[in-house]
Amino acid sequence: MKKPIIIAIDGYSSSGKSTMARALARRLGYRYIDSGAMYRAVTLYALENNLIDTNGNVDTDGIVNALDSIKIDFHLSADGTQHTTLNGRDVEADIRTMPVSSNVSTVSAIPQLRHRLVLWQQEFGKGKGIVMDGRDIGTIVFPDAELKIFVNAPAETRAHRRFIELEAKGIAVDFDEILANIRHRDLLDTTRAESPLRRAEDAIDLDNTLMTIEEQDAWLDEQVNLKLGR
Ligand code: DC
Repeated sequence: MKKPIIIAIDGYSSSGKSTMARALARRLGYRYIDSGAMYRAVTLYALENNLIDTNGNVDTDGIVNALDSIKIDFHLSADGTQHTTLNGRDVEADIRTMPVSSNVSTVSAIPQLRHRLVLWQQEFGKGKGIVMDGRDIGTIVFPDAELKIFVNAPAETRAHRRFIELEAKGIAVDFDEILANIRHRDLLDTTRAESPLRRAEDAIDLDNTLMTIEEQDAWLDEQVNLKLGR
């Protein structure tokens, strides 16, 4: 087997990064880490512990102080899907709800929180053989990653995908609300002071608007094979 590498997949929210990254990790026998799930888990913790009020005001110090009491991990469930855990509790469904989605950009803009999560993420990558997706993986978390992909698609396309995904899970949602949420998150993700979403200079671009999942997977395999010299 070739020497394991680190694969960083960054991009806008709901661009299909996670689906693509998860499937790639499975094909390669690599570990998959959803860094967005970590920011979502901290946001869920903050909501449950009254560190965010109903107007979306965030108690930054409260969240930073709570970090020592927060342990985020990932485990494989019986059906082979990966679940995020927060202090040992399976929060995979809870971190995908609208209250978390609406507050996660504000929470993830806290510099001290980002520093801590980046350290945890780097820890996951120590043995290499990892696919991690997020916003700053190719720029901040693993600037030396052997393969970096930057995914993008128009906000409407991404909102449509999210709508179908949530509907399939039986979660009642309004398309306009999702689109507004995606646009708002794009703005916050790209304009925050601390490690904003941006393309690493050595990243390979992927606009998957007109691609099927299969085409996207094939394209990604091609990039991996080129890197691994296969
Ligand atoms: O990928 P996602 O939509 O689940 O990410 C949730 C939020 O977390 C997103 O609004 C931005 C933030 N995030 C981040 O700031 N840095 C990362 N590496 C991953 C996610």
